[in-house]
Amino acid sequence: IVLKEDESLPKAVKITIATKDVELGEGDKRGTRVKVSGRIHRLRPQKQATFITLVDGYGHLQCILQGDLTRTYDALTFAQGTSLTLYGELKKVPEGQQAPDNRELHVDYYEVIGASPGDEDAITNKVSHAQNQWDTAMLDNRHLVLRGDHAAALMKLRAHTEWAFTKTYHDMRFVKVSPPALVQTQVEGGATLFSVPYYDETAFLTQSSQLYLETVLPSLGNVYCIEKSFRAEKSLTRRHLSEYTHIEAELDFITFDDLLDHLEETICRVIDAVLDDPDTAAFLRELNPDFQRPQRPFLRMKYADAIDWLNKQDPPIPNEEGNPHVFGDDIAEAAERRMTDIINRPIFLTHFPVEIKAFYMKKDPSDPRVTESVDCLMPGVGEIVGGSMRMEGYEELLAAYERQGIPAKDYYWYTDQRKYGTSPHGGYGLGLERFLAWMANQHTVRTTCLYPRFMGRCKP
Ligand code: 4AD
Repeated sequence: IVLKEDESLPKAVKITIATKDVELGEGDKRGTRVKVSGRIHRLRPQKQATFITLVDGYGHLQCILQGDLTRTYDALTFAQGTSLTLYGELKKVPEGQQAPDNRELHVDYYEVIGASPGDEDAITNKVSHAQNQWDTAMLDNRHLVLRGDHAAALMKLRAHTEWAFTKTYHDMRFVKVSPPALVQTQVEGGATLFSVPYYDETAFLTQSSQLYLETVLPSLGNVYCIEKSFRAEKSLTRRHLSEYTHIEAELDFITFDDLLDHLEETICRVIDAVLDDPDTAAFLRELNPDFQRPQRPFLRMKYADAIDWLNKQDPPIPNEEGNPHVFGDDIAEAAERRMTDIINRPIFLTHFPVEIKAFYMKKDPSDPRVTESVDCLMPGVGEIVGGSMRMEGYEELLAAYERQGIPAKDYYWYTDQRKYGTSPHGGYGLGLERFLAWMANQHTVRTTCLYPRFMGRCKP
């Protein structure tokens, strides 16, 4: 059977599935005749008709083919992925039935653009509908997994969330800058640096843009950036990536309390901006039906009190060696997660000991054993933000380099910040993937990335 378009029908109006202002036929009333291009997402051949769910990146459209339309070679070899242009009348869905946007396309003609295999190579065979989106086969087929509704909803949520950060900082009058990815200094310790050949020298992929943000406070005021950061993490966990999107901000002439207030306000404004958009709110509801705006104010808890809290649980939550926690221990991922899940609300964990934190952190003037530092912990994920006030003194900073074996000469441009008019300032970095894993209740940050990078995985 060869199809021919019926010339007597009204000329079709080109639409996308996002187009909502189209007349829908109902009873005697005729709907607009449209043409719409997309791909077959679901295919349900039945006796009387073939039902297609069409996707075009904007949404889903139910399409119905009947009669000869279902008997062409093309129609008999339709498969998930087939791209085509469908022509027909848009009608309201009959009472008692359901379809996206309550409408369906009664197809009168179509043209296949690109076929898709229906045999063992079919997309449906490559992408199982299991939840284990992070097993090897699913990661190798990430390009096909991304065609699924779940992955698409997450990517749309991600896009809007990133925009919400941009909007929030813009509203707060922060200036956006774009620091380099290729650097020759470390920020968060030498152990997780990726090095790359750089002409006749060696460079690193940046771990954080913080130091660069600090340098522009004098001329730009409060600043932020949304850039990739890279960490050669040598362990496979649910929340560590080798490449992640780092949202970082730096604020000038502030106190530690100002920093905490700002951070809470920023997170809440971003959530509001995400929920204010009806489409994005719908994606979030789909991904995490139980999502609720966090309770304010966030709980503020000092590191020393967290150590006591861990030991006072019944049974106590031990450190990595299985012993009771002592002051000075790094609170490991498992313990941190347990604590956050039990308390079950956002926590600002503050005042970490000097020894377990980065060289640049300011000491608490009232207790020099600890730093003016903060981790923001969220239920289900744990740490999503790390921040601090920065050391202000020139000599003090030189001593800190010395203590950590950092070559001061490579950091002259950072040290100069203290030489040419120092100031009380601080900032933080937030991992976008962890933020999304929290919001969308994902088991791992990997599903929040387009193409996740972690130890052992650098493709596709
Ligand atoms: O706590 P971190 O290492 O802090 C810094 O890099 C600071 N220099 C940031 C600043 O003050 N401007 O990292 C900040 C956040 C973490 O809380 C986490 O959300 C995310 O970055 N992060 C990672 N996300 C995914 N995979 C990894 N390997 C990550 N390492 C850090």
